[in-house]
Amino acid sequence: MKHNSTENPLNYPIVALDFSTTQEIKNFLLLFKDEPLYVKVGMELYYQNGPEIVKWMKACGHRIFLDLKLHDIPNTVYRAMKGLAGLDVDLINVHAAGGTSMMQAALEGVNEGTPNGSNPPKLIAVTQLTSTTEDKMQSEQLIEHSLKDSVLHYAKLTMDAGLDGVVCSALEAKDILQVTRPNFMCVTPGIRLSGGASGDQKRIATPEFARLNGASNIVVGRPITLANDPVQVYHQIKDQWNGAMKNDVN
Ligand code: C5P
Repeated sequence: MKHNSTENPLNYPIVALDFSTTQEIKNFLLLFKDEPLYVKVGMELYYQNGPEIVKWMKACGHRIFLDLKLHDIPNTVYRAMKGLAGLDVDLINVHAAGGTSMMQAALEGVNEGTPNGSNPPKLIAVTQLTSTTEDKMQSEQLIEHSLKDSVLHYAKLTMDAGLDGVVCSALEAKDILQVTRPNFMCVTPGIRLSGGASGDQKRIATPEFARLNGASNIVVGRPITLANDPVQVYHQIKDQWNGAMKNDVN
């Protein structure tokens, strides 16, 4: 089981594997038999299982978004990224709030740490978390702008720092593409099928809306991982994302 090189990684919803043990991961992935997936390894899994779980999933043939959202002084982020780039993942990220120097340092680390003969992972930056509302942003981060302006500002900083794109809500992707450049990646969590539980997410959208609004990738966790039939829901989301269900609008 491998992704073949002609497949477009953008066609795959990224499945957020928000589990804490390798056994849970193995049980979940077993449901998909030999189907190669694009998976997201976040803090919960990585902090408890370390690089081994990433190496194992890579060896199983899955594409990997390593979602560790680095945010620290530039030198620390440079050194951390240099190490993480050795894992040969496909996508990795930082927080744009760390600033342009930190993002440039991250990029340097990624490029220097990528093994010879491998492509560096795409490097993207989180703008405002999809669990953040404008009220909370203004009262807690003391940002006296609209949430949209903050997201667009971070997106421009990210582009200026030379990164490949941002993590944002699907609701913002179209506007981001207008102030950045064609093919600037907009990786969008907060994806729900119509009527699905939003949980702690605030700025949510359906897979189809995300596609029509310019998202380059969608990230989906609980709608798949908590489903009675994760494989069926995954394929429903994948089909909707790829435009196979054109009438299933929000
Ligand atoms: O379960 P759900 O579909 O809400 O999962 C979304 C995933 O995307 C979680 O793993 C979360 O950490 C991640 N994420 C997010 N918002 C961001 C960046 C990442 O929800 N801005």
